[in-house]
Amino acid sequence: MNVEGRVAVITGASSGIGAGLAKHFVAQGMQVALCSRRSPVLSEGDNVLARSVDVSDEAAVFRFADETAKRFGRIDLWVNNAGVVEPIGMLHDLDMREFERNHHINFMGVVHGTRAFIRHVRGLPKREGESVLVNVSSAAARQARAGMSAYSSAKAAIDRLTEAVAEEERDAGLVALAFSPGMVDSGTQAVVRSMPVERMPASDNNRRAAALGRFNSTEHVAQHLLKIAFDPAARPQGYLYVVPNQY
Ligand SMILES: NC(=O)c1ccc[n+]([C@@H]2O[C@H](COP(=O)([O-])OP(=O)(O)OC[C@H]3O[C@@H](n4cnc5c(N)ncnc54)[C@H](OP(=O)(O)O)[C@@H]3O)[C@@H](O)[C@H]2O)c1
Repeated sequence: MNVEGRVAVITGASSGIGAGLAKHFVAQGMQVALCSRRSPVLSEGDNVLARSVDVSDEAAVFRFADETAKRFGRIDLWVNNAGVVEPIGMLHDLDMREFERNHHINFMGVVHGTRAFIRHVRGLPKREGESVLVNVSSAAARQARAGMSAYSSAKAAIDRLTEAVAEEERDAGLVALAFSPGMVDSGTQAVVRSMPVERMPASDNNRRAAALGRFNSTEHVAQHLLKIAFDPAARPQGYLYVVPNQY
């Protein structure tokens, strides 16, 4: 599949999955616009626009989208990947400001990115081809675990948002997919592994998985993401794509 010259936005591109996607996409000849609060993994260059953006700030996300479109002419693929896993712990113990912060980033950040991309797509002159939105979800959206109420509920909300947008924007040629990457050894997993069982009983499973090396690589995740983005035959029937485990 030739993706050379395609333009992708990746949010949360300073570490983990987002950083891996950025490197893979550029290696395939794509142009990328990257954002995160810290510096994205790749620095500014001919094929890279790199900005410090907090995805919970709608105006900042819209400015980033406008700048990307101006720089590269158009956006083919928008990946809402930025996310945080904390706070972890029983709901009755959680600080509600931290709970809200989780939803402002994990859910509202995806809402802002999704709206920015829709605005871009609807503003384009009529053209051939599709625009693809990929919202990074999680197995936690479909199976909650004790201690993960903030994260799981935000991810479940992403799934429903994506499903609604897929219906709403079909006529605009926008394909919307929720994307569950499987376990990847990143910042998210490091935080979960550090949790005592009192705050997250299932954290033992993550420690065991890490000891056995049961992870998907970011390369594996990136290959699957590009396949569903640019090969319509590889897409799932519904709104959700679950990356098959590599191990
Ligand atoms: N790793 C897994 O096993 C796994 C499984 C299922 C789903 N996921 C999902 O995959 C996505 C990536 O997570 P990861 O596992 O790669 O963890 P990670 O290494 O912690 O990466 C998270 C990224 O999101 C960025 N980010 C966080 N808050 C942000 C904000 N307010 N504005 C902009 N960027 C922000 C971080 O950058 P800054 O801190 O620099 O802002 C970082 O680049 C998340 O949505 C996560 O829920 C991961």
